[in-house]
Amino acid sequence: MRLSKKVDRDACPLMVGRSLIVIQKIMKFPKISNLKTFEQFNARLQELGIEIPVDEILESGEDSPLGQSLERDDGRIGNRFCTLPMEGWDGELDGKPTELTRRRWKNFGLGGSKLIWGGEAVAVRHDGRANPNQLLINNGTLSEIESLRKLLENTHEEHFGTTSDLLVGLQLTHSGRFARPNDKKFLEPRIGYRHPVLDQRAGVTEDSAIFSDGELDELVEDFVKAAVLAQKIGFKFVDVKHCHGYLGHELLSGFDRPGKYGGSFENRTRFLREVVAGIRAEAPGLEIGVRVSIFDYTPFEKGEDGIGVPSHEAPYEYAFGGDGSATGIDLAEPSKFMELLKELGINLVCSTCGSPYYNPHIQRPAAFPPSDGYQPPEDPLVGVARQIAATAELKKLHPEMAIVGSGYSYLQEWLPNVGQKVVRDGNADFVGLGRMVLSYPDMPADVIAGKELGRKKLCRTSSDCTPAPRNGIISGCFPLDPFYKDMPERKELAEIKKGM
Ligand SMILES: Cc1cc2nc3c(=O)[nH]c(=O)nc-3n(C[C@H](O)[C@H](O)[C@H](O)COP(=O)(O)O)c2cc1C
Ligand code: SF4
Repeated sequence: MRLSKKVDRDACPLMVGRSLIVIQKIMKFPKISNLKTFEQFNARLQELGIEIPVDEILESGEDSPLGQSLERDDGRIGNRFCTLPMEGWDGELDGKPTELTRRRWKNFGLGGSKLIWGGEAVAVRHDGRANPNQLLINNGTLSEIESLRKLLENTHEEHFGTTSDLLVGLQLTHSGRFARPNDKKFLEPRIGYRHPVLDQRAGVTEDSAIFSDGELDELVEDFVKAAVLAQKIGFKFVDVKHCHGYLGHELLSGFDRPGKYGGSFENRTRFLREVVAGIRAEAPGLEIGVRVSIFDYTPFEKGEDGIGVPSHEAPYEYAFGGDGSATGIDLAEPSKFMELLKELGINLVCSTCGSPYYNPHIQRPAAFPPSDGYQPPEDPLVGVARQIAATAELKKLHPEMAIVGSGYSYLQEWLPNVGQKVVRDGNADFVGLGRMVLSYPDMPADVIAGKELGRKKLCRTSSDCTPAPRNGIISGCFPLDPFYKDMPERKELAEIKKGM
């Protein structure tokens, strides 16, 4: 992975965004379920010219790579599966959870992961909600959000006998450019800086959408207040979200933003540093984690043939962890970011990349793209390989950090074998599960118990859980989760897809 401008981009196919796209247009992507043997899986990787670490034999039990615990100064985490934050846009308008939210958190508890990264994105204040049904943390919603944690932990205790090795955090967010606090279909963007492509998509025409320095100072206070509340209701850590194009992430690429929150690395990370300082002062003892998009690309759009193409040519200067080419990676700054986290006493990191809004094929590789998106410009395995390689590079440079990797669900049958090899080789500490926990919540428990995988429950990356909320529908695994299968919303979604 490129760490300095001197390294040859063409040396690695994962870096060569544009040329890779040209190749992929004429390629068909074999289904993962057809790659039945270790040899077939590896042959496909070879064909693509990529590397994905994979073990042929899957181990089980508490001494296995995925079953072993991780000892930390802040306590033991009982295995190497992490449930990634997964929202369902199914809260009440006042920010409280509903039965659907509770069901999801219960599933997180019974799944078997010992690290619960945030549950789901919870807005620190109303204007930062990604959807009018996103959870919101304040004094009015506090006891209900506490009951989510308790439900998760009680369920976990019932299934696994203890919660002493379970770490549960809460993800705190402001949706920034992608805020829709009042109407599911109406963006009310609050941005870090003007963007040549994303402004047009969101209808931003004036600088008034930009957060002023004073407003960001206030927002820092709101994050700190939310963290204090999260600690009060028993969460062991908060994630100060810096990913997926939401505000924290966008500020990291505010290279041409003037003032104290833009320009230099120091300024672009000021928001994080101030939130952390505030939490240390107001909520001593509360651990802090950061979920960060460790690299980004330009936004993509549908090309003439429906396949995604970059919306912006090089030079592209708005990608944190980008190399300026619009579709290349430079991990020098993300590595510096890890150093900063260490200085701030943070060693819990969840790595992810890009944004589901403007380059979903890198963020959540999928066989079937979100219906409001573009056809994947590369075999989704390339996207999986890219995230694993970038995470491994940062882990190698910062071995003291506990790092969760993301973007594994597309691997389907091969997810446990890949996860095992990644953890065995120390290329990440945890295998994060996103979509897979919606369709197959207890995959971690099955893998650690050495049970055969429930093939019918494997997420096939249909992406139905992605566009639903953008069309005002709750999110869930409509094709595979029996509970969602029978819902009227499934039909509604099908109609919407037909019209796209
Ligand atoms: C329906 C849905 C909801 C999600 N909600 C969140 C969220 O609340 N916070 C977050 O950081 N990521 C969220 N993500 C991203 C996932 O955590 C994860 O990064 C992504 O799905 C890739 O991992 P996977 O391949 O295991 O699915 C969501 C993804 C989906 C599909
Ligand atoms: S709807 Fe279900 S099968 Fe489709 S991507 Fe989401 S979790 Fe996977």
